[in-house]
Amino acid sequence: MAILKIARMGHPVLLRRADPVPDPTAPEVRRLVADMAETMEDAQGLGLAAPQVHVPLRLFVWRGGAGNIIALINPEIETVGEEVEQGWEGCLSIPGLRGCVPRAARIRFRGQDIEGRPVEGEAAGLAARVIQHETDHLDGILYPMRMTDLSLWGFTEELARAAAQAKPAEGTVP
Ligand code: NI
Repeated sequence: MAILKIARMGHPVLLRRADPVPDPTAPEVRRLVADMAETMEDAQGLGLAAPQVHVPLRLFVWRGGAGNIIALINPEIETVGEEVEQGWEGCLSIPGLRGCVPRAARIRFRGQDIEGRPVEGEAAGLAARVIQHETDHLDGILYPMRMTDLSLWGFTEELARAAAQAKPAEGTVP
């Protein structure tokens, strides 16, 4: 296994549509998924798409609710219902920043696992957000391109400082 170099915003590999994975069971796909899982762990991310490690293929890994790392190959998603939620996102390709991004609250997804078996399911909340963010990477879309209010974009450090100042520490007398 190996830790891979992560492409940052501005690299063209992040802006192109990735190609379908012809054979999810191929040894090089298995190796790529293992390396991506290790890279995501090392970078403490919630998800990582193949284009982010300079491989223009339609697959990503993400951390499921139970903390396990799941690979989804050739994913397709559709929204369920009309509800849209605003939520904070970061991206390993845009280090140090966070932005508030509108996403469908509930989705259906399907794809394949690394055994080539079909996978499908429904996701809501954070899981739905991560899957939409990662699938966007496969279509050359980065989260700032989905933002509707760029005043809600900033450096994680500054946003944390502002949030801490907005909320007086417990037990202090103003
Ligand atoms: Ni990302």
